[in-house]
Amino acid sequence: MVAAKISSAVLSYTPPDPPIKEFTPARDRAFFADPTKKSLLSQASAVEEITPTIGTELKGIQLSKLTDEQKDDLALLVAERGVVFLRDQDITLDQQHELASYYGVQDKDPNQQDPKHVTIIGRGGNIRQHDHYGAEYHGDHSFELNPPSYTLLRMVKTPPSGGDTIFTSQTALFDKLSPTFQKTFESLSAIHSSERGYLASINGGGTPHRAPIATAHPLVRTHPVTRLKSLNYNPTFIERIEELNGQESNYILAFLREHLLNADDLTARWKWTPGAVAFWDNRIVVHKAIPGGYDVTLREGKRTAVHGERPFFDPENSESLTERRERLEKEEGTNGVAHKDKEAALNN
Ligand SMILES: [Fe+2]
Repeated sequence: MVAAKISSAVLSYTPPDPPIKEFTPARDRAFFADPTKKSLLSQASAVEEITPTIGTELKGIQLSKLTDEQKDDLALLVAERGVVFLRDQDITLDQQHELASYYGVQDKDPNQQDPKHVTIIGRGGNIRQHDHYGAEYHGDHSFELNPPSYTLLRMVKTPPSGGDTIFTSQTALFDKLSPTFQKTFESLSAIHSSERGYLASINGGGTPHRAPIATAHPLVRTHPVTRLKSLNYNPTFIERIEELNGQESNYILAFLREHLLNADDLTARWKWTPGAVAFWDNRIVVHKAIPGGYDVTLREGKRTAVHGERPFFDPENSESLTERRERLEKEEGTNGVAHKDKEAALNN
């Protein structure tokens, strides 16, 4: 692993491109989906939940053959389940880029060479090593003003075992907090920085095309489509909590890391096979690829991602998972009583 230090290579390097400006992306395609997602789900030979909280595997679907209606349904499924998995996909790189473009403006990683995709490779080393960049949970490029919403990763080749990716639901992580911590975190924002990756890139011989940036984003965010509250925690890129003193910030970040690393009940672990795809929503999940223990030359994937909205928190119009479930149960109960009353009236 290359250290993130301010070396002479860093000091003499000037990135060629200006920073990316904030913009308002087109309306999320999940808004256009049918709430039952029937155009997509009715075509699947099986729809299997990986865990109750996060992850659904769709079988019998080829991404290369989706209609626009099905693409919208897929966006909603991803927004609801955090990540959707598919195996044995025949989609080409150009088709993958086209599919990503349907969902928004393509995001470009600061180190990305090809404007259409990032090549993801295997990683060796020991995850316990100091500063093992990449072995930590993250949402992709959360330091951007418009961090990616949807990411699609397709594995071209994989080792027989090793290199799995783990996804954890930040919606559920928020829901599992006590009401007191929920309220406190709703009032905080975190500084997400690309500096560490920038330094490591140059020290490793890379040529990042943009200078590092640091951006404040709310620590709890509202999903624009589902209106659910999620933690917006990211141990790879968050440097500190903006509103807190130094020691307080360290303490809260240590708690959040422990909260995330203890969340075995809120994760989905995906074993890759050639042609397998994971399609996730960075607004509500964090992920990490597990390095080491396999021949890194055997792992290669193609990643496309699109810019989402600037993260926001809307206290007036969002709810936690528990609040949503309780409200729906109540509404159903009320409807059930009304329905029974009607039946009783008919019987009398
Ligand atoms: Fe990633």
